[in-house]
Amino acid sequence: MRTLFLLIATTIAFSSCDKSHSINEEQHSILSEKLNLPADVFDYTPGFSQALINDFPEIRDALERDEVHDHLATMGRVLFYDKRLSRTNEISCASCHLQERAFSDDKAVSRGVNDLTGTRNALALATTMGFETSYGSNFSLPVSGVSAFFSWDDSVFDLTEQSLRAIESDVEMNMDLQAVVNKLESDPIYGVLNKNAFGTSQIMEHNILEALKSFMNSMSSVESKFDKGLVMTRNNPQADFPNFSNSENFGKSLFNRDCSSCHGDSHSFSVTPTANNGLDIYSIDPGKGGVTSREQDMGVFKVPFLRNIEVTSPYMHDGRFNTLEDVIDHYSNGIQPHPNLDIRLLENDGQPKRFDYSSEEKIALIDYLKSLTDQNILTAEKFSDPFK
Ligand code: HEC
Ligand code: HEC
Repeated sequence: MRTLFLLIATTIAFSSCDKSHSINEEQHSILSEKLNLPADVFDYTPGFSQALINDFPEIRDALERDEVHDHLATMGRVLFYDKRLSRTNEISCASCHLQERAFSDDKAVSRGVNDLTGTRNALALATTMGFETSYGSNFSLPVSGVSAFFSWDDSVFDLTEQSLRAIESDVEMNMDLQAVVNKLESDPIYGVLNKNAFGTSQIMEHNILEALKSFMNSMSSVESKFDKGLVMTRNNPQADFPNFSNSENFGKSLFNRDCSSCHGDSHSFSVTPTANNGLDIYSIDPGKGGVTSREQDMGVFKVPFLRNIEVTSPYMHDGRFNTLEDVIDHYSNGIQPHPNLDIRLLENDGQPKRFDYSSEEKIALIDYLKSLTDQNILTAEKFSDPFK
């Protein structure tokens, strides 16, 4: 009996020492008033495959430097779903970035506070292996050596700045960060979350941005059929994948021939950060040109990452295409001779390329694009709305 008691006592002592992952009982009861959170926080480490880590020591270093703390990401998750981040208490980040759509929106342009709409399609967030690492924000990219930035016009250099823009934007959340702090600091849940993430229960402006950033950096999409194929071929996207159908492998070879010079063949890192892909002859939205004022940037937009593309419709910066069929039709014979049309989509005679895909080729390309869907991230509890 006595030994049993000792055993239990030591177990309790040990587990309460493990401050790094458990939330203590008092904290848990405060959080449980409003939130469904587990007693042990979820693991939010981005899931870069071991094969990639072995091939590119840069990734290992980046993951070490940019270690995602589970408590930080937990706080970020709560903030991401908290409507109090908007002036009217009706819009959270998740209002425009829906988990089941890989954190993109089902509307062509998103609706923000007071039913105001912006002009661009909400970018999907779960499209990479690890947000800032895939973008190359925190190290030089292994393959291309380039870094990509955030937003359709490539103008936001930092993920914390991107969150700040959403909070401050008139048509998104229309708040300033200090006002968010004023609203949240009296709520005991943030006392607990902030304490576990930053060591003090007083929530500060930069804590909000850091926590959101950690949560987004942990949105790692790595369990698609495509990823399994990469693992099976030891990270060789040019090889036929044993787990793919004939159509998927055929689609992959077409993609690697016609599309990967911009979108990449491994969907792991940015290859070409921005381009014009000939949506129009004249662009209404100047894109990157609106930021730099340079002629060669007019109508130039971010080349988006394509992981989970199956579920992120509508497509393009203005959400003009509802289906992947529409997208493939555009590349097949709809590319327009925009003055800044990228050279990779031009024939030698200066005319836009006409790939003129057969119906079999179109189906293969779409089958391939669908192999990039990772069901796990679309449903995982650790990325879902924690509010009761
Ligand atoms: C009203 C809708 C709306 C809300 C609310 C919103 N976003 Fe967005 N988000 C967008 C749109 C639209 C874009 C694309 C903006 C652009 O390119 O000009 C975007 C882009 C982004 C990007 C850039 C992704 C990339 O790959 O470049 C990130 C990151 C992001 N949002 C995070 C957030 C966070 C965090 C919040 C909450 C603090 C938030 N968003 C709230 C609509 C919204
Ligand atoms: C010259 C570079 C380039 C090439 C080559 C290219 N793309 Fe794109 N792609 C882009 C750009 C830039 C965008 C965003 C354009 C915009 O919204 O203004 C885009 C957008 C897309 C989108 C929509 C993404 C989203 O989130 O809305 C899909 C899907 C896509 N491309 C697939 C393909 C396929 C399939 C091919 C080959 C047939 C291809 N791309 C070839 C540059 C390119």
